[in-house]
Amino acid sequence: MSTETLPDHVAEHLVRDFNIYNPPGIEGDFHQAWATLLAEDDSSPLVWTQENEGHWLPTRSSIVEEILTDYSRFSSRSIILPKSHSADHGLLPTTIDPPEHHFYRKTLNHSMAPAAVNAMGENIRSIVASLIDGFVDKGGCNFTQDFADILPIRVFLSMMDLPEDDIPQTKYWTDQLIRPDGTITFADALQNLKDYIAPYVDQRMGKDGTDMLSRMINGQTNDRTLTREEAIKLSIQVFIAGVDTVVNLLGFVFLFLAKNAQHRAQIIEGEISVAEAVEEILRRFPLVTVAREVTEDIEFHGVQLKAGDMIAAPTPLAGMDNTFTPNAEDVEFGRKRGNSLTFGRGAHTCPGKNLARIELRIAIEEWLRRIPDFHVDQSRDVSFSSGIVGVVNELNLRW
Ligand code: HEM
Repeated sequence: MSTETLPDHVAEHLVRDFNIYNPPGIEGDFHQAWATLLAEDDSSPLVWTQENEGHWLPTRSSIVEEILTDYSRFSSRSIILPKSHSADHGLLPTTIDPPEHHFYRKTLNHSMAPAAVNAMGENIRSIVASLIDGFVDKGGCNFTQDFADILPIRVFLSMMDLPEDDIPQTKYWTDQLIRPDGTITFADALQNLKDYIAPYVDQRMGKDGTDMLSRMINGQTNDRTLTREEAIKLSIQVFIAGVDTVVNLLGFVFLFLAKNAQHRAQIIEGEISVAEAVEEILRRFPLVTVAREVTEDIEFHGVQLKAGDMIAAPTPLAGMDNTFTPNAEDVEFGRKRGNSLTFGRGAHTCPGKNLARIELRIAIEEWLRRIPDFHVDQSRDVSFSSGIVGVVNELNLRW
C-alpha cells in the first residue's frame, strides 16, 4: 500500500515502514527488531503503518498495556492483523469483550487453575527427562526439533487426552494460523483444526471425563453449559494458544541460557531459584502480538483514531523498554520484579500462564541437572521470524 491511499485521518508524519510479520532487523534478533519501534521521546506515541491493510502501532509499552486493559475503546472483536483475517477467526474467548467474556473465562480458569496444572508436574518431568535422555550422550541436539517442538505438545495432548500421533498435522495447521507461509489459507487452516477437534468434543460433551478438554467443555457457569459450536471454538483457541507459545518461548529461553554461562551458574549454584529465574526470563522475552479494533472515534495520546481502525498490541516491546522496566534489556536475576506484559493484561490475560511457568521451570531444572554447560552450535545460523507469536527458527546446541 502506498502513502497515496493513506486514510484521511492519518497524518503523514506518523507513517512508519513497519511490518509486524517482518520487522526491520529480524534476521539478527527478534526483540531488537521490535525495539526499533520504541519512541526516543514523547513526540509520536503512536505511529501508523500501511502494511497488513494499515494499522496503528504504539511506541511505548505503557500504551500497549492501556490498549490491552481498555476493552470499551479497544475491542477484541478483531485481534488478528491484517483485519480481514480476523473475520475468519471468531474463536472463543479471545474475540469476545467483557461482560460476555466472563462466561467463557470461568470454565477456562477452572480447568487451568494452579491445582489442576500442578497435578501434571510429575508427568511433565518424566516427558522432559525422557526427551533429554534421548540425546544427552550425543554431545549436541537440534533443540527446536528434538525438544521444543515436542515437549509442550506432548504435555498438552496428554492433559487434553488426545492422541500423540496427531502432532505433525495439527502443528502444521497451528503454524499456518500464527505465521502463515501461504501454503494454505487462514480460513482453511482454521476449518481443518475445527474438523479435527469436533469428533473429540462430540464424544466428551455431557460426560464426566476428567481430562482438561472434558472439564473445559462441560463447565457449568451462569446456569448454562457451552453449546457444541462454542465448545469447538473454545477448544481450538486453547489448542492454538497453548501449543505454539510454549514451543517458541523455549527457543528464546534456551538461546539465552546457552549464551550466558554466568546466569546458568547463578541457577545451578542456587543463588537464585529456578522459579525466580523463569519470571525474569519471561519478562525479558515476551513474544505475542495481538491487536484490537478501535470502537469509536477518539483522540488517544493526542492522535485521532477512527472507529474500525486496527491497533497492534506488541508485547515484545516490554522486554526492551527502559521506560517500562529500568535496564529492560538486561536479564537481572534477583531484580525487584520488573514490569511484564508477557502474558498480556486485562480481561484476556493468559489463563495458561500457570502451565507455561511449570513447563519452563521443569525444563530448565532437568536440563541443567544433566547438561550444565552448553553453547550455541557456531556452525549453524540462528534466525528469527515474527508474527502473532515470535520464534527462533532453529536452535542447535552443543555440549
Ligand atoms: C509462554 C507461554 C505463553 C504465552 C507467552 C502466552 C501469552 C498470552 C497472551 C499475551 C494472551 C493475551 C491475548 C489477548 O490479550 O488477546 C494469551 C491468551 C490466552 N492464552 Fe496464553 N500464553 C502462553 C501459554 C499458554 C498456554 C500453555 C495456554 C493453554 C494451555 C494458553 C492459553 C491461552 C488462551 C486460551 C488465551 C485466551 C484468553 C482469553 O481470551 O481470555 N496460553 N496468552
